[in-house]
Order: sequence, then C-alpha cells, then structure tokens
Amino acid sequence: MNVLVVGSGGREHALAWKIASSERVNRVFVAPGNAGTATECNDIENVPISELDFPALIKFAKQNKVGLTVVGPETPLCAGIVDAFNTEQLRIFGPDKSAAQLEGSKSFCKEILRRGSVPTASYNVFTGGDEAISFLQNRDIPLVIKADGLAAGKGVFVCNNKNESMEAVMRIKKRREFGNAGDKIIFEEKLDGEEVSIMAITDGKTILTLQPAQDHKAAYDDDKGPNTGGMGAYSPAPVVDSKMLQWIEERILVPTVYTMNNNNTPFKGVLYAGLMITKQGPKVLEFNVRFGDPECQPILMRLQSDIVEIFEAVIDGQLDKINMPKWDERIAVCVVMASKGYPDEYKKGEEIRGLKDAANLPNTKIFHAGTVIKESKPDQITGNIETQILTNGGRVLGITALGETIADAKLAAYSAVKKIRWDGAWCRKDISDKANKHFKAANN
Ligand code: AMP
Ligand code: GLY
Repeated sequence: MNVLVVGSGGREHALAWKIASSERVNRVFVAPGNAGTATECNDIENVPISELDFPALIKFAKQNKVGLTVVGPETPLCAGIVDAFNTEQLRIFGPDKSAAQLEGSKSFCKEILRRGSVPTASYNVFTGGDEAISFLQNRDIPLVIKADGLAAGKGVFVCNNKNESMEAVMRIKKRREFGNAGDKIIFEEKLDGEEVSIMAITDGKTILTLQPAQDHKAAYDDDKGPNTGGMGAYSPAPVVDSKMLQWIEERILVPTVYTMNNNNTPFKGVLYAGLMITKQGPKVLEFNVRFGDPECQPILMRLQSDIVEIFEAVIDGQLDKINMPKWDERIAVCVVMASKGYPDEYKKGEEIRGLKDAANLPNTKIFHAGTVIKESKPDQITGNIETQILTNGGRVLGITALGETIADAKLAAYSAVKKIRWDGAWCRKDISDKANKHFKAANN
C-alpha cells in the first residue's frame, strides 16, 4: 500500500519513518515534507503540495494509489481535510472538521469538558472586549487568558495581575493580533503543577492510550522565557504512574470520547490531552486532535508495533480487534535544536553541518523539522550537483536518542547535538531533567 503523510515538521518526519517500517507499506509520500523526509530512504518521497491544498492532495492520492492518508498538523484537520477525503471515498486517519473543534475552539472544548464532568480549570467565555474588561475590574488575580481559535500556540497568556490581564485582552480583542481566532476570549483559573501530555488513539469506541510524554514548552532552561511549540520531550514520563494513567483514562479520556459521541461530533484519531498534574489531581489544560510535536518523536522511537495496523483499525472502527501496542522499555529523549531568535523572528537559510556524523551514533535518530534541501547548479565540467541542507524554520531538528536510564538517553541525545552546527543554532540544556526527581522517588 502507498501512504501519504500530510505536513512538514519533526512529527511528520517521525510518522513517515515509522510508517515506512511497516510491512504493509510500499511507498510513503510526504506533502510537502522537509529535507529529512527527502533523504530518509528510497521508500519515502516528498511531494510539493501544501497541507491546505485539498484538491491537489486528493488528486495526488487518486493518481498514486494512496491507500491511507495520515495528517500531522491541526490546521488541515480543523479546515476539514478528513471530510474532503471521505467525500472522495479516500481512506484518511484523523478527526473530521466537527470533531477537530476540540482543538480549533477552546470554548467548544471547555463546553465538552463541562458536560463530561472532566476536571479542568474553571472559566468564563466572552465575546465582546468591553465585557471582558469589565469582568477584570474587580479581579486582581492570576488568570490565563486565551484566544478561542487556532493561533499557532501563541494565543495563550499566563497573567499574574490585572495589568497583565488587561494587556492580554487588548492584544486579543482590541488589536486583534490573532484575527478571527480572537472572536471569543476565554478566562481561566491559573493552575499550578507539572504538565504532561497523554496521547490516545481512538475510533470513538475503543481507546488505546499511548505512553506518557513530557514536553518543554518554555524557550529557556528551568522553564524560563516565552512559550514555544516545544523545545524537547521525553517518554515515558514518570510524573504519571500506571495508577494515575488509569485514572486519566477513566476520568478524562473516556468521558471526553463519550461526550463527543453524544454531541454528534464523534472523535476518531489522536486525542492529545495536555494535562496539569495539580495537588487535586490531573486537570485538562487543552485537547489537541493530533500527535504532539515533539512528543511524537520519542513516543514513535519507542513504539515497536505496526502503526499502520493501528491507523487502519481506527478507520474501520475495529480498534478493539488489535493487540495492545508493544513498547521499547528504554527511555527516549528528544532535544529540539532551534534557529537564533526563535520563538520570535529568526533567520532561515543557514547551512547545517555534521548531520551524518550525528546520525551514525548508536540508538540515535535525527528528525528534521524546519529544513530544506538546496541543490547547486550542475558543475559545468563534471555535471555533478552538490546538495546542502539548510535551516528553514524556527524549530530545525529533533535529536532523539534511546537509553537504559534517563541519564543515558540524555547523554546520547546531547552527544549527537554536539556534532551538529549552524550559525545561531541553540537548544535547551536541561531536557528530561524534570524526570529525575520522579525516577529517584520511584526507586527509593
Ligand atoms: P494551551 O494551548 O491551552 O495548552 O496553553 C499553552 C500553555 O499555557 C500550557 O502548556 C500551559 O503551560 C499554559 N496554560 C494554559 N492553561 C493554563 C491554566 N489554566 N493554568 C496554568 N497554565 C496554563
Ligand atoms: N508540543 C505541544 C503540541 O504539540 O501542541
């Protein structure tokens, strides 16, 4: 079978790599992909179609006998790619447009959580900016203020006092920095604790929970600095033990899937719960409707089962028929290397060196995110073409390594990082350190 992966980040490189390892798969196409998917192996090929050009993607899938399409990012899911493919009788893994609202509208998500009695921060939703401002008049308390719609992870403000809250309202409602995504504004109680990502795959009837992972959303060490898409991740995440994972399934995942069915917006695909482990227990910060990036990279490095079998079972509504997934017991750590200036403005087009040396290290995989191939003009005498790999985004690479202990995995990942360089490359130095206190506590 041929498979089409839609997207161009580190998550999509990891998905294409894992899908290509399936015995059921002949070729994997990635639209539009990156330099990593272009150079991974002969079975994987990039196709220059944007993730939002549904007619071109459908035409390509038909012409190339694509038997399964897997969508990485939220934007095409929220724009209805699954509905468009289904209309053409093409098999595609992911939620349809109505179910993708769980990520595409934070007020929709909160309403589902409320109806399902799922633990989450208390909240208020406002449509008018003036209403929101008058709500703030008598409240000088910490609040988290969010634009309702998709804002590439930038529409959330953790505010410590009234002034900060006012500024967030101005940015969302008055200056309309997030456009229509700010039509509604959500005020949430600020929760304290440690964050964890729990991803589950569901066909709307059966839920298959993947191993927990922990992201590092802040740009700098010790969780300082602005929020990013994620500067690194590791799995498993010992902040969630098996008892807590069961509680999360029963109190968070099951009621969410059940309420989505009752709402006539049944959910099929990856249900990603961003959770805060508070003193009162886990509470939902957000739902995403796709794999986390970079959480997907360490999770897929550890998944030993055939992921294509799982995707197909979801499409067929037969997830109850397949075996539980098998996991590598080792720990995987993924360190994101970023461009200078990220998450604000950054420069593209820097040549990346050292990739081959790093890729030769044992138990290590270099997943590309914002990278592109540049080919020179053919040499006038030899006809040879030289290729370079250049930076093409804020998050550039996800260096992922397996180890028997968290220390081994961290060391292996950072050893590979040291071999790679470009002008302005940087990364956090403390990815996975949060796990240490939990591993120590569990072993005492
Ligand atoms: P979201 O996109 O809703 O997950 O928010 C992005 C980030 O903002 C989360 O990963 C948290 O670090 C933080 N955040 C969101 N909601 C809350 C909340 N209610 N309390 C504390 N932090 C939050
Ligand atoms: N790493 C966070 C996300 O994928 O939303």
